[in-house]
Amino acid sequence: MQTIINNHTELAAGLLRAGEIVAIPTETVYGLAANALNPDAVMKIFETKKRPLFNPLILHVANKEAVKPLCTEFPPILQQLAEAFWPGPLTILLPKSNLVHDLITAGSPLVAVRIPDHPLTLKLLHALEFPLAAPSANLFGTISPTTAWHVLDQFDGKVPAILDGGPCKIGVESTIVKMDGDQLIILRTGGITPEMIEKVTGVEPLVSKENTEQPEAPGMLKSHYAPGKPLYIGNLAQLTELHGGKKLAVLSFGEIQQHPDIVAQENLSETADLHEAAIHLFAMLRKLDASDADIILAPILPTKGIGLAINDRLERAASN
Ligand code: TXA
Ligand code: MG
Repeated sequence: MQTIINNHTELAAGLLRAGEIVAIPTETVYGLAANALNPDAVMKIFETKKRPLFNPLILHVANKEAVKPLCTEFPPILQQLAEAFWPGPLTILLPKSNLVHDLITAGSPLVAVRIPDHPLTLKLLHALEFPLAAPSANLFGTISPTTAWHVLDQFDGKVPAILDGGPCKIGVESTIVKMDGDQLIILRTGGITPEMIEKVTGVEPLVSKENTEQPEAPGMLKSHYAPGKPLYIGNLAQLTELHGGKKLAVLSFGEIQQHPDIVAQENLSETADLHEAAIHLFAMLRKLDASDADIILAPILPTKGIGLAINDRLERAASN
C-alpha cells in the first residue's frame, strides 16, 4: 500500500466513507481515524495501532449538535465546559446511546467525545455524515505524533493517507473529564488545565491519581508514551552526575546542561515557557531517542498549567 500525504480533505473523506483509516491532524496530536459507526473500519484502527481492545476510543465530531445522537444525557457542568472549550483539547465522557458500538467504548457505558480545533479536520468532519473514532496515530505505547512525518515514520505503507495539517499547536493530548455523581473528575491532564476548568465551572475538579493496569483511561497505562531508550526523570544536574559514564541524551527546560557525557540535548523552551515545552515535548523525545545516546534524562517541570500534562507524559514514558 502506498501512503499518500497531502491536505486534500476530499480524498480523506472518500477513503473514510469507503471504510478505510486515515491519519488526521488535530491541535493536540495526530489521530488515526475511521468511521465510528462502521465496526469493521474501527477494527482496522486497533489492528494497525496494535492496540488492545480494552482501550476505548475518542469520537471526534464537527459541532455540539452532532453529539446529541451519541449520548443519552449531557450534564449541565459538562455542557458549560463544552461551551467554553470546544472546539479544543477537551474530551468529555457521556452516557452512550445505542448508536455507539461497544468496540468504541470497550464495553463501558460512557463514550468519550470531543470537537478538535484544527481547520482541516473540522472541514473534514463537516463534510462527513458520521463521527470519527480516532486514537493518537502511534503504535500502542509509543510516543505520540505531532507532525505528519511522525505518523509516516510508523505507518508508511500501513495507512492509505495522512492528512497533513502541519505541526500540532498544543502538543499533548486532550484533557479527559467526566462527572462522578456531583464530582467533576479529570481522568487525563492535557491542554485544558484544572485552573481553566475551575474558572469556567466554579468547582474544583478532582485530578484522578488512578494508575492501575486496567485503568479507566488507559492513556494512563504504565509505560505509555515510551521511547526505545531508558528514560529517567528528576533533577537534571543530579541525574547527569548519577549516570555519568554512559552516553547521555538530555531534554532540558530553559537552562542547558553541561557535562562531557552529554551527546545530545534538546531544549523544550529556552524561555522556560510551558506551552512551548508542550509543543516540543514529543518531537524532542523522538529526536533524543534517535540519537546514539544510551539513556535519556528529562526534568520535572513546574506542576502548574499544562506542566501537569507534560509531567504526566514524562512519568509514564519513564515507568518502563
Ligand atoms: O488529544 C487527543 O485526545 C487525541 C486526539 C487524536 O484527539 N486522542 C487521543 O486518543 O489521545 P488516545 O486513544 O490515544 O487516548 C484516549 C484516551 C485513552 O486513555 C482512553 O482510555 C480514554 O481516552 N478513553 C476513551 N474512551 C473512554 C471511555 N469511554 N472511558 C474512559 N476512558 C476513555
Ligand atoms: Mg494515545
